[in-house]
Amino acid sequence: MKKVAVLTSGGDSQGMNSAVRSIVKTGLQNGFEMIGVKSGYKGLMKKDFFKLELEDVGDILYRGGTFLQSARSEAFKTKEGQLKAISNLNAAAIEYLVVIGGDGSYRGAAELKQRGIKTYGLPGTIDNDIPLTDYTIGFDTTLNVVTDAIGNLRDTMSSHERVSVIEVMGRNCGDIALQAGISSGVDAILIPEFKSDMKQIYKKLMDGFEQGKTHSIVMVAEGAGSAEAIAELIKEHTDLDTRATVLGHIQRGGTPSAFDRIFTSRMGHKVIDLINQDLTGVALGMENNEITYHTFEEIFSAKKVVDKKLYKIFEDLV
Ligand code: ADP
Ligand code: F6P
Repeated sequence: MKKVAVLTSGGDSQGMNSAVRSIVKTGLQNGFEMIGVKSGYKGLMKKDFFKLELEDVGDILYRGGTFLQSARSEAFKTKEGQLKAISNLNAAAIEYLVVIGGDGSYRGAAELKQRGIKTYGLPGTIDNDIPLTDYTIGFDTTLNVVTDAIGNLRDTMSSHERVSVIEVMGRNCGDIALQAGISSGVDAILIPEFKSDMKQIYKKLMDGFEQGKTHSIVMVAEGAGSAEAIAELIKEHTDLDTRATVLGHIQRGGTPSAFDRIFTSRMGHKVIDLINQDLTGVALGMENNEITYHTFEEIFSAKKVVDKKLYKIFEDLV
């Protein structure tokens, strides 16, 4: 009987639970023994393993966060940490490991693969910063959370005729800012991938108020600067009343969107198919609405690029 462990690692994201549910349900249907690892690689090194049954994945489809819990572990980056994890997996006779996490988690999975563990990756991060997949788990839900938050900001900013500078997550990737910016119809977007002309932004904001706008929204990706610093610049170069908001971890919570639930259900199903074929060392994703997979090496040598066409659409709509 195949024995398959699952863990969630790095920053959590909405839809991780749904992914685990799909992996466990499909695995059990295939007659596999399913094992949960608590707190990512930290639990792998501590042998924090438990058997997963059908009832363990009931009532989790619609919950944000991860019931397996997640962690960042510096110790796992060392050779000793990885050898400890492997000896724990071997002692429990676990041959297969599914890692749901971001780029760092994939690096760890690739190391384990090098040392003989059959590993798989699912792109669990709100940042949408993984190459060779159009989406990552939680990204869509986060766009909805940010879009809602901007709606709230508009109410109060209009009452006071203010500019709101809102900072969103994404690490070095501007996708959350760009896509939530488009869905919210903001006035300016600052992302690390493209250089913004601040003078043009000041002018646009001032013209807007002169023409009767009651408020403006400027979206900043955390990789492009801080809301506080951008708000200060706007205050310095215009006479506009400006406030900074850092949305923070609110973006990582909430019930997963229908898209994230379906996306993760499909990937969970597919990973069990790959395990059945003994095809290992790969990470899954979605390209052109198909669930696809690539080796970790292919993913590490590819580069995530922000969609230039989307950026152009924003510029034309602004
Ligand atoms: P994410 O997976 O969301 O990118 P991190 O970058 O924090 O989040 O990575 C999650 C965990 O993966 C880290 O805490 C560490 O245990 C492991 N990890 C990250 N980078 C490496 C690496 N180069 N080699 C081995 N393990 C790594
Ligand atoms: O990678 C996901 C992410 O939410 C990033 O967008 C952000 O920079 C980081 O994690 C925050 O990390 P932490 O939860 O450790 O504060």
